[in-house]
Amino acid sequence: MSGNVDWVTRDLKVLWHPCTQMSDHEWLPLVPIVSGSGCWLTDASGKRYFDAISSWWVNLFGHAQPHISEAVAEQAQRLEHVILAGFTHPPAITLAERLLVLAGAPLAKVIYADSGSSAIEVALKLSFHYWRNSGQTARQRFVVLEGAYHGETLGALSMTQVPLYRETYGPLLLQPLVTPAPAAASDEASAIAAADAAADALELLLRQHQGTVCAVLVEPLVQCAAGMRMHHPHYLRRLREICNRHQVHWIADEIAVGFGRTGSLFAHQQAGVKPDFLCLAKGLTGGYLPLSAVLTGDHIYQAFYDDYANLRAFMHSHSYTGNALACAAANATLDLLEDPQLLPRTEKLGAGLEQALAPLSDHGHVSGIRRRGLICAFDLVQDRSSQTPYPWQERRGLRVYQHGLERGALLRPLGNTVYFMPPYVATAEDLRWLADVAMEGVELATR
Ligand SMILES: Cc1ncc(COP(=O)(O)O)c(C=O)c1O
Repeated sequence: MSGNVDWVTRDLKVLWHPCTQMSDHEWLPLVPIVSGSGCWLTDASGKRYFDAISSWWVNLFGHAQPHISEAVAEQAQRLEHVILAGFTHPPAITLAERLLVLAGAPLAKVIYADSGSSAIEVALKLSFHYWRNSGQTARQRFVVLEGAYHGETLGALSMTQVPLYRETYGPLLLQPLVTPAPAAASDEASAIAAADAAADALELLLRQHQGTVCAVLVEPLVQCAAGMRMHHPHYLRRLREICNRHQVHWIADEIAVGFGRTGSLFAHQQAGVKPDFLCLAKGLTGGYLPLSAVLTGDHIYQAFYDDYANLRAFMHSHSYTGNALACAAANATLDLLEDPQLLPRTEKLGAGLEQALAPLSDHGHVSGIRRRGLICAFDLVQDRSSQTPYPWQERRGLRVYQHGLERGALLRPLGNTVYFMPPYVATAEDLRWLADVAMEGVELATR
């Protein structure tokens, strides 16, 4: 660890890390990473860590992936960035064309932004502004699922329902309407029943707030930061019908679940329905550079298309909108996503991981082992039979994290939810080892 000490000392003098109580680093090691290759990260002392969470879910094909690295390096020799208002460039155009082919009609236009949160801001503003341009000025509210996470800039945070992130800033935030998420279910029939119950609640809410809602914002299939809560595609079919009936937009937040994570290229495709706005980020560049995109339909675009003097344009921008290096990384990532073997392979890897975790299924402190695609999760609970959670202050999940670090795995539970979202280049053997490390961590954490 000696090679780490200098970097850590220098870091703690000057850096304030994201989502961290900095005093934790008095006893929790900060890990200075100097290189990466495939699923593995190497720290300054030479120790390796398996990136089981794809570095906050951004990395799809491993670190320092040769095809993406080459594309970025090549683009950097040509053009690093140009203002996207009044100017354009080939990587941005090509990427938009490719995303629209992958997402399919009626999605027909792409707006770029530069993070997941900024994509959510764009989608919220577009939906609100569409209704305004259409003369429906009473539509000013949004609906979100309980437990939802949609980012942490003020607009996106307003939609986020995770108290840890939201509560402090409550007085500053918009107040969305909150509708129940489909309850956890252990089999297909109960998952469909849970989807129906949640959809019925949404329908009732929209009836009560008729004519005042712009959009329902839903992360399809897996509410990731809510604790990897999974629902049946049936919920999305019902959601689409209900939104149509009440003339309300559906904004699909596929920032985390897009690009193959759930077993299909986009999660909503498993339900055979299309959103009005599709938000993409994270894996869009394979984890290389910050870039996000909002895809929407031509009817939305046309509601803004007018003489300048009528002031109906979408006046929204970020300096790095459509950055050329990020678009080059994204185009290279899409090349890798074209591999027809990819999704069957990730499904097989996911099934293998779930199988490797099977010994936990009768553990007295583990509940809800679940999986969709290559996202796999379970919860640490004080008592499985009564589903009593551990008090959050005990930070049991953190013990799994600490054990992972010791063993060379980057597992970063969400509270007491332990999960796996590895890069697609993991091997079956890697994942069996990872399951063993996690199970050892569970033993230590639940003692
Ligand atoms: C579903 C979802 N939406 C939005 C965001 C925000 O993205 P970013 O952190 O890039 O702002 C995240 C980030 O974890 C997310 O998981």
